[in-house]
Amino acid sequence: MTEHKPLPIAVLASGRGSNLEALMHACNTGQLPLEFRLVASDHAEAAALRRAESAAIPTVALDPSGYRTRRDFDLDLFARVAASGAELVVLAGFMRILDAEAIAPWTGRMINVHPSLLPRYRGLHTHRRALEAGDHEHGASVHFVSAELDGGPVIAQAHIDVRADDTETTLAARLLPFEHRLLPAVVKLIAEERLGLHDAVVTLDTIPLEQPLRLVDQALQRA
Ligand code: GAR
Repeated sequence: MTEHKPLPIAVLASGRGSNLEALMHACNTGQLPLEFRLVASDHAEAAALRRAESAAIPTVALDPSGYRTRRDFDLDLFARVAASGAELVVLAGFMRILDAEAIAPWTGRMINVHPSLLPRYRGLHTHRRALEAGDHEHGASVHFVSAELDGGPVIAQAHIDVRADDTETTLAARLLPFEHRLLPAVVKLIAEERLGLHDAVVTLDTIPLEQPLRLVDQALQRA
Protein backbone atom coordinates (compact mmCIF):
# COMPACT_ATOMS: atom_id res chain seq x y z
CA MET A 1 0.00 0.00 0.00
CA THR A 2 1.32 3.47 -0.83
CA GLU A 3 1.95 5.78 2.12
CA HIS A 4 -0.16 8.92 2.19
CA LYS A 5 0.70 12.10 4.01
CA PRO A 6 -1.51 12.67 7.05
CA LEU A 7 -4.73 14.46 6.18
CA PRO A 8 -5.31 17.56 8.33
CA ILE A 9 -8.89 17.42 9.64
CA ALA A 10 -11.27 19.37 11.84
CA VAL A 11 -14.10 17.58 13.65
CA LEU A 12 -17.29 19.36 14.72
CA ALA A 13 -19.26 17.66 17.48
CA SER A 14 -22.10 18.74 19.76
CA GLY A 15 -22.07 15.94 22.32
CA ARG A 16 -20.70 12.55 23.33
CA GLY A 17 -17.99 12.29 20.67
CA SER A 18 -17.89 8.53 20.17
CA ASN A 19 -17.44 8.97 16.40
CA LEU A 20 -14.59 11.38 17.08
CA GLU A 21 -13.11 8.71 19.34
CA ALA A 22 -13.42 6.14 16.55
CA LEU A 23 -11.41 8.42 14.25
CA MET A 24 -8.81 9.04 16.95
CA HIS A 25 -8.52 5.30 17.57
CA ALA A 26 -8.12 4.51 13.87
CA CYS A 27 -5.39 7.14 13.69
CA ASN A 28 -3.58 5.99 16.86
CA THR A 29 -3.54 2.39 15.68
CA GLY A 30 -2.01 3.31 12.35
CA GLN A 31 -5.10 2.52 10.27
CA LEU A 32 -5.79 6.10 9.24
CA PRO A 33 -3.27 8.85 8.45
CA LEU A 34 -4.78 11.93 10.13
CA GLU A 35 -3.64 15.10 11.79
CA PHE A 36 -6.33 16.48 14.10
CA ARG A 37 -6.07 20.24 13.74
CA LEU A 38 -9.23 21.24 15.63
CA VAL A 39 -12.24 19.86 17.45
CA ALA A 40 -15.00 22.47 17.68
CA SER A 41 -18.34 22.41 19.43
CA ASP A 42 -21.42 24.52 20.01
CA HIS A 43 -21.56 23.20 23.60
CA ALA A 44 -18.74 24.01 26.03
CA GLU A 45 -19.62 20.94 28.11
CA ALA A 46 -19.56 18.47 25.18
CA ALA A 47 -17.75 15.25 26.07
CA ALA A 48 -16.20 15.38 22.60
CA LEU A 49 -14.13 18.39 23.71
CA ARG A 50 -12.84 16.48 26.74
CA ARG A 51 -11.82 13.54 24.54
CA ALA A 52 -9.92 15.91 22.27
CA GLU A 53 -8.25 17.72 25.17
CA SER A 54 -7.07 14.42 26.61
CA ALA A 55 -5.25 13.81 23.31
CA ALA A 56 -3.85 17.38 23.22
CA ILE A 57 -5.95 18.25 20.15
CA PRO A 58 -6.76 22.00 19.95
CA THR A 59 -10.40 22.69 20.82
CA VAL A 60 -12.83 25.57 20.61
CA ALA A 61 -16.33 25.95 22.02
CA LEU A 62 -18.52 28.67 20.53
CA ASP A 63 -21.80 29.64 22.17
CA PRO A 64 -24.49 30.27 19.53
CA SER A 65 -26.31 32.66 21.87
CA GLY A 66 -23.37 35.03 21.56
CA TYR A 67 -24.07 35.66 17.88
CA ARG A 68 -26.67 37.85 16.22
CA THR A 69 -27.55 35.32 13.50
CA ARG A 70 -26.96 31.69 12.58
CA ARG A 71 -24.85 32.93 9.65
CA ASP A 72 -22.59 34.99 11.96
CA PHE A 73 -22.00 31.91 14.11
CA ASP A 74 -21.23 29.70 11.11
CA LEU A 75 -18.94 32.26 9.49
CA ASP A 76 -16.91 32.56 12.70
CA LEU A 77 -16.85 28.77 13.15
CA PHE A 78 -15.65 28.08 9.61
CA ALA A 79 -13.11 30.92 9.75
CA ARG A 80 -11.58 29.10 12.72
CA VAL A 81 -11.74 25.77 10.88
CA ALA A 82 -9.97 27.32 7.87
CA ALA A 83 -7.34 28.94 10.13
CA SER A 84 -6.59 25.52 11.63
CA GLY A 85 -5.30 24.34 8.26
CA ALA A 86 -7.84 21.52 8.06
CA GLU A 87 -8.46 20.18 4.57
CA LEU A 88 -11.42 18.00 5.57
CA VAL A 89 -14.24 18.80 8.00
CA VAL A 90 -16.02 15.88 9.66
CA LEU A 91 -19.40 16.50 11.28
CA ALA A 92 -19.58 13.84 13.99
CA GLY A 93 -22.83 14.46 15.82
CA PHE A 94 -22.84 18.21 15.10
CA MET A 95 -26.50 18.98 15.65
CA ARG A 96 -26.95 22.27 13.84
CA ILE A 97 -28.37 23.38 10.51
CA LEU A 98 -25.59 25.06 8.58
CA ASP A 99 -25.67 28.30 6.65
CA ALA A 100 -25.31 27.83 2.89
CA GLU A 101 -22.92 30.76 2.41
CA ALA A 102 -20.67 29.77 5.31
CA ILE A 103 -20.23 26.20 4.09
CA ALA A 104 -19.99 26.88 0.33
CA PRO A 105 -16.15 26.89 0.38
CA TRP A 106 -16.22 23.40 1.91
CA THR A 107 -18.25 21.68 -0.81
CA GLY A 108 -16.63 18.29 -1.42
CA ARG A 109 -14.44 18.75 1.68
CA MET A 110 -17.00 18.25 4.45
CA ILE A 111 -18.75 15.00 5.42
CA ASN A 112 -21.40 14.06 7.96
CA VAL A 113 -22.33 10.79 9.64
CA HIS A 114 -26.08 10.32 10.05
CA PRO A 115 -27.94 7.45 11.75
CA SER A 116 -30.31 6.40 8.96
CA LEU A 117 -30.27 4.99 5.46
CA LEU A 118 -30.54 8.32 3.67
CA PRO A 119 -32.61 9.62 1.96
CA ARG A 120 -34.85 8.04 4.60
CA TYR A 121 -35.18 9.95 7.87
CA ARG A 122 -33.26 13.17 7.61
CA GLY A 123 -33.15 15.14 10.85
CA LEU A 124 -33.88 13.82 14.33
CA HIS A 125 -35.29 10.63 15.94
CA THR A 126 -34.18 8.38 13.09
CA HIS A 127 -34.35 5.13 15.09
CA ARG A 128 -37.85 5.85 16.37
CA ARG A 129 -39.04 6.74 12.88
CA ALA A 130 -37.58 3.56 11.37
CA LEU A 131 -39.38 1.48 14.03
CA GLU A 132 -42.65 3.36 13.57
CA ALA A 133 -42.47 2.77 9.82
CA GLY A 134 -42.04 -0.98 10.41
CA ASP A 135 -38.70 -1.04 8.54
CA HIS A 136 -36.92 -4.37 8.49
CA GLU A 137 -33.64 -2.69 7.74
CA HIS A 138 -31.95 0.33 9.28
CA GLY A 139 -28.50 1.83 9.04
CA ALA A 140 -26.13 4.75 8.93
CA SER A 141 -24.88 6.98 6.12
CA VAL A 142 -21.87 9.15 5.51
CA HIS A 143 -22.50 11.91 2.99
CA PHE A 144 -20.93 15.03 1.60
CA VAL A 145 -22.53 18.03 3.26
CA SER A 146 -24.71 20.39 1.26
CA ALA A 147 -26.86 23.28 2.46
CA GLU A 148 -29.81 20.89 2.70
CA LEU A 149 -30.04 19.18 6.11
CA ASP A 150 -28.74 15.58 5.79
CA GLY A 151 -29.32 16.03 2.07
CA GLY A 152 -25.91 15.94 0.36
CA PRO A 153 -24.67 13.14 -1.90
CA VAL A 154 -24.37 9.86 0.01
CA ILE A 155 -20.94 8.19 -0.05
CA ALA A 156 -21.40 5.03 1.97
CA GLN A 157 -23.86 3.18 4.18
CA ALA A 158 -23.88 0.45 6.81
CA HIS A 159 -27.00 -1.71 6.99
CA ILE A 160 -28.38 -3.61 9.97
CA ASP A 161 -31.49 -5.73 10.44
CA VAL A 162 -34.25 -4.42 12.67
CA ARG A 163 -35.25 -7.07 15.23
CA ALA A 164 -38.83 -7.70 16.32
CA ASP A 165 -37.99 -6.73 19.90
CA ASP A 166 -35.92 -3.63 19.05
CA THR A 167 -36.61 -0.39 20.88
CA GLU A 168 -35.28 3.03 19.96
CA THR A 169 -32.50 2.47 22.51
CA THR A 170 -31.44 -0.99 21.40
CA LEU A 171 -31.52 -0.04 17.74
CA ALA A 172 -29.35 3.04 18.36
CA ALA A 173 -26.94 0.99 20.48
CA ARG A 174 -26.62 -1.75 17.85
CA LEU A 175 -26.09 0.77 15.06
CA LEU A 176 -23.42 2.87 16.77
CA PRO A 177 -20.52 0.38 16.36
CA PHE A 178 -21.30 0.32 12.64
CA GLU A 179 -21.03 4.12 12.51
CA HIS A 180 -17.65 3.75 14.20
CA ARG A 181 -16.44 1.54 11.34
CA LEU A 182 -18.21 3.39 8.54
CA LEU A 183 -16.88 6.87 9.27
CA PRO A 184 -13.14 5.98 9.47
CA ALA A 185 -13.50 3.82 6.34
CA VAL A 186 -14.84 6.81 4.38
CA VAL A 187 -12.22 9.18 5.81
CA LYS A 188 -9.56 6.67 4.75
CA LEU A 189 -10.74 6.83 1.14
CA ILE A 190 -10.55 10.63 1.30
CA ALA A 191 -7.04 10.52 2.86
CA GLU A 192 -6.01 8.24 0.02
CA GLU A 193 -7.45 10.77 -2.45
CA ARG A 194 -9.76 8.13 -3.91
CA LEU A 195 -13.10 9.91 -3.38
CA GLY A 196 -14.34 12.85 -5.39
CA LEU A 197 -17.44 14.99 -5.80
CA HIS A 198 -18.21 16.35 -9.26
CA ASP A 199 -21.51 18.11 -10.02
CA ALA A 200 -23.07 16.42 -6.96
CA VAL A 201 -21.93 12.97 -8.14
CA VAL A 202 -19.62 10.97 -5.87
CA THR A 203 -16.72 9.24 -7.58
CA LEU A 204 -14.45 6.46 -6.34
CA ASP A 205 -11.18 6.15 -8.25
CA THR A 206 -12.76 8.63 -10.74
CA ILE A 207 -15.66 6.26 -11.50
CA PRO A 208 -19.12 7.56 -10.46
CA LEU A 209 -20.97 5.66 -7.73
CA GLU A 210 -24.35 4.43 -8.96
CA GLN A 211 -25.26 3.55 -5.36
CA PRO A 212 -23.61 4.42 -2.06
CA LEU A 213 -20.73 2.15 -1.08
CA ARG A 214 -21.75 -0.52 1.37
CA LEU A 215 -19.92 -1.51 4.54
CA VAL A 216 -19.40 -5.28 4.54
CA ASP A 217 -17.49 -6.46 7.63
CA GLN A 218 -14.77 -3.79 7.88
CA ALA A 219 -14.55 -2.89 4.19
CA LEU A 220 -16.43 -0.62 1.82
CA GLN A 221 -17.68 -2.25 -1.36
CA ARG A 222 -19.45 -0.97 -4.43
CA ALA A 223 -23.14 -1.93 -4.15
C1 GAR B 1 -24.34 9.70 16.01
O1 GAR B 1 -25.26 8.65 16.10
C2 GAR B 1 -24.48 10.43 14.69
O2 GAR B 1 -24.80 9.58 13.63
C3 GAR B 1 -25.61 11.38 14.98
O3 GAR B 1 -25.36 11.83 16.29
C4 GAR B 1 -24.69 10.81 17.00
C5 GAR B 1 -23.46 11.40 17.62
O4 GAR B 1 -22.83 10.49 18.48
N1 GAR B 1 -25.65 12.46 14.05
C6 GAR B 1 -26.77 13.02 13.60
O5 GAR B 1 -27.87 12.69 13.97
C7 GAR B 1 -26.55 14.13 12.59
N2 GAR B 1 -27.76 14.41 11.87
P1 GAR B 1 -21.36 10.74 18.98
O6 GAR B 1 -21.33 12.16 19.56
O7 GAR B 1 -21.14 9.71 20.04
O8 GAR B 1 -20.44 10.57 17.82
